[in-house]
Amino acid sequence: MTIRRTLIAANWKMNGDIALLDSMLSVIDSEGVISDTVEALICPSFTLLGAFDKQSNVCLGAQNVSQHDSGAYTGEISIEMLKQAACEYVIVGHSERREIYAETDQIVAEKFVQIARAGLKPVLCLGESLEQRESNFTEKVLAQQIAAVIDASDVNDWAHAVIAYEPIWAIGTGKTATPEMAQETHAFIRENLRSHSKTHDIAETMRILYGGSMKPDNAVDLLSQADIDGGLVGGASLDPNSFISILKAAS
Ligand code: 13P
Repeated sequence: MTIRRTLIAANWKMNGDIALLDSMLSVIDSEGVISDTVEALICPSFTLLGAFDKQSNVCLGAQNVSQHDSGAYTGEISIEMLKQAACEYVIVGHSERREIYAETDQIVAEKFVQIARAGLKPVLCLGESLEQRESNFTEKVLAQQIAAVIDASDVNDWAHAVIAYEPIWAIGTGKTATPEMAQETHAFIRENLRSHSKTHDIAETMRILYGGSMKPDNAVDLLSQADIDGGLVGGASLDPNSFISILKAAS
């Protein structure tokens, strides 16, 4: 039997401040919700990375990184900068980056490799639109998103990766995939990873998070599914009480 340590990750997007960061860390650390089986991660804005208390048991992550090493890329942040800021994880391929900032599968793949080769852990986001789901294209879209990263990477790049399945139609909408629907899709993703030689060996241990309106009242049902190994939480991660409830649901 493999043990996949549940990962509850907060994606603050363009929200949050130092006060929220401080109260979130102190609540999580004092509640004792982090254990051998549950890990907590906060991905705040870049400006908050330096304010993160390194003594905390919570992990630190970034929401984005440049695919380039350094140079004339105004407004971008490099993987070395994130490493120096003590980031452990980096979210890559979020649908908001893909849609609003036109990040292609190719760019996402380059960023994934950049993160992995710097020794950080990529949180690779995948997900279909409502139109794609309704046209029965979900599996095709997810397989393509995975294949683009597999083509650009080596076996070793996957060693510490995490996947987040985030159906676009469930993000920030209050609509959630039903636990059964999410489980079916997560199982498909794991099976797809098993089918590629580069990810075959890590498919079983790969953590696949669900993201899309995860809240205290649906977290237990989602997290009890066999192939759901955590959550990537947006809105509900901005309130310490809600985020703690989700962490408790994981334990
Ligand atoms: P919500 O939890 O607000 O739906 O956001 C999900 C998400 O996009 C996390 O990355």
